Amino acid sequence: MKRIAVMTSGGDAPGMNAAIRAVVRTGLEYGFEVYGIRQAYAGLLAGDFNLLTSVEVSGILQRGGTILQTARNEEFKTEAGRKRGLRRLREHKIDALIVIGGNGSLKGAYELHKMGFPTIGIPGSIDNDIWGTDMSIGVDTALNTILDALDRLRDTATSHQRAFLIEVMGRNCGYLALMGGILGGAEIVITPEKEVTMEEVALALEDAYLRGKSHAIAVIAEGAPFRTTELSEYLCSKQNVGFEIRLTILGHIQRGGSPTAFDRLLATRMGVKAVEMVREGKSGSMVALNGRKMDEVPLEQAVSQLRPLSDSYFEMARFLSR
Ligand code: F6P
Repeated sequence: MKRIAVMTSGGDAPGMNAAIRAVVRTGLEYGFEVYGIRQAYAGLLAGDFNLLTSVEVSGILQRGGTILQTARNEEFKTEAGRKRGLRRLREHKIDALIVIGGNGSLKGAYELHKMGFPTIGIPGSIDNDIWGTDMSIGVDTALNTILDALDRLRDTATSHQRAFLIEVMGRNCGYLALMGGILGGAEIVITPEKEVTMEEVALALEDAYLRGKSHAIAVIAEGAPFRTTELSEYLCSKQNVGFEIRLTILGHIQRGGSPTAFDRLLATRMGVKAVEMVREGKSGSMVALNGRKMDEVPLEQAVSQLRPLSDSYFEMARFLSR
């Protein structure tokens, strides 16, 4: 019998609970004991391990957030911290660890693997910036939340003939902004991946106004080349934009909520696959969605680069906004 541990780390993402449930119940199916580590690497260092039963993961599939809680931890980034973490895993006689989280969290998982501890990663982050997987857990739900907000903001924008600047999350990645822009019918999308000036944004909005549009939507990634507040001030100071300007920063509302069917399925499949990988004695890999298939990619590759955005989506966003 194996004793395995699971943690959720970094920013929470809708679907993390579904993944925990799948890990626990797949583990039980294989006769493993599954321990939940509370508050990610901080909990690992504190030795906060708790045996999870089937009942404890009952009723969580549809819940946003994470029952194991999460944290960002500086100590585990140091060698001394990692050594202490490894000691804790050994003290609790854990045979393998499954880490559900974003780039920083998966880096921690990779470090443990390099120290000889069997570790598997599951990509969980609303940003969709994790290399090697088509989608990470939580992206679809966050995107649907963004679309709901865009639709609502367009209603009021149209009623007042206003332009709305809507800032979305994504850290240094423009995925949520780009997809939100394409699927929410934005006039312009601003991401960290493409250089754009505030003057160009003003011209795009003015162009929409002159073409007789009753509203304009600009979706701006939080990692954009300029701050949205700066952009808003700049546009308000220009006489020729036409529209009155309003700014909405969606913020952490994008991280909460019940996971969509897509995220529940993705998280469930990834949780099952991660335990299968542990059972096969694998380590240093991340579960990945490749087309329709559950795949494996080396953590080394996944943590050393960011997932690129396809140029064809930028092109689509440009001509569909006309
Ligand atoms: O990585 C997920 C994310 O929500 C990013 O989009 C955002 O930049 C960051 O986390 C916010 O982090 P925190 O919740 O620690 O403020």
